[in-house]
Amino acid sequence: MTIQKEMFQAVESELQKQIARLDQPRTQIFQEMLTYHMGWTGEGAGAEAAGKRIRPLLLLLTAASAEGNQGNSDWQNATPAAAAVELIHNFSLVHDDIQDNSDKRRGRSTVWVKWGAPMAINAGDALFVIANQAILELVNTYPANIVVQASTILNNTCLDLTRGQYLDMSYEERKDLKTDDYWPMVSGKTAALLSACTHIGALLGGADERTQETYRSFGHYLGLAFQVQDDILGIWGNESVTGKSTASDLVEGKNSLPVLAGLSRNGKFANRWAEGPIQPNEVADLASLLATEGGYDTAYEAAKSMTDLALRSLQEADPQGEAGQALFELADKLLKRNQ
Ligand code: IPE
Ligand code: IPE
Ligand code: MG
Ligand code: MG
Repeated sequence: MTIQKEMFQAVESELQKQIARLDQPRTQIFQEMLTYHMGWTGEGAGAEAAGKRIRPLLLLLTAASAEGNQGNSDWQNATPAAAAVELIHNFSLVHDDIQDNSDKRRGRSTVWVKWGAPMAINAGDALFVIANQAILELVNTYPANIVVQASTILNNTCLDLTRGQYLDMSYEERKDLKTDDYWPMVSGKTAALLSACTHIGALLGGADERTQETYRSFGHYLGLAFQVQDDILGIWGNESVTGKSTASDLVEGKNSLPVLAGLSRNGKFANRWAEGPIQPNEVADLASLLATEGGYDTAYEAAKSMTDLALRSLQEADPQGEAGQALFELADKLLKRNQ
């Protein structure tokens, strides 16, 4: 079995164990909202409905390849932290789908569509709390000061994530944005959590502070590239592969990187954008127009240069063994992903 496969299985059973905290009389449907969102239950349950689980994998691969952890399997001790970052990610998705008015996620109806926004907010809250309970379980295998550091990184990240979401939502009303306004938004909403994965992984893998910082920087740039690619897929992706609507970013008026790049051309795309909300029946033509006016190429080049920066940090961190090799491959794969 590859190390990724072993990690994937360990994460999945840790996630199930953590969410089983809600397995109590009277609230089975509440628990089902979480297990449905995680991809385990309900119509369409299965691997695709579960998502890629990239964040926990990133955390565990970093822990396994960090200097203090060469060639051994101590990464297993970090599994509760891996579950915690995936739970935080899923909390943010359940809330994000309400915030973005998105009706599809991972090919299925979103939690708010199935149970209503008030219930979905509460389900997201539960995921958030369970994440914090999970990371504190590191205390069974790590010294308390390390656990406090890991938990502090995770909490700081959550605040950055909400700041990023604030910028994302507030930008929907703005007509004056430039591509420079984009990076603080995605640093918060996406890169904060990916950099927390590599930072916590390095901390738990026994890396010194300087190496932790190098791994953190790897996760940060990887997160920026990841979000740019998500923006590209959000306009030109294949819905049956991404499992999300390709109309919603344009219809919601999201100032994603391709859109900001297109606006800077001051061409036909910018003229139409200035006229007001995009209707669903215009999306296909507008996406082609945006590609013609450079939105796709600019975003693709940006994703590539952020991936290059990520790889440069990773090289500097010098990850070891099979897990180290897997980190390089993961970074490359993320740039080429179509889901
Ligand atoms: C989606 O993240 C949200 C972003 C930060 C772009 P993923 O693409 O990792 O989502 P899943 O978990 O695999 O569905
Ligand atoms: C990604 O937001 C970041 C968070 C969910 C916090 P997006 O709104 O860009 O991601 P998708 O496309 O809905 O997955
Ligand atoms: Mg969003
Ligand atoms: Mg969204």
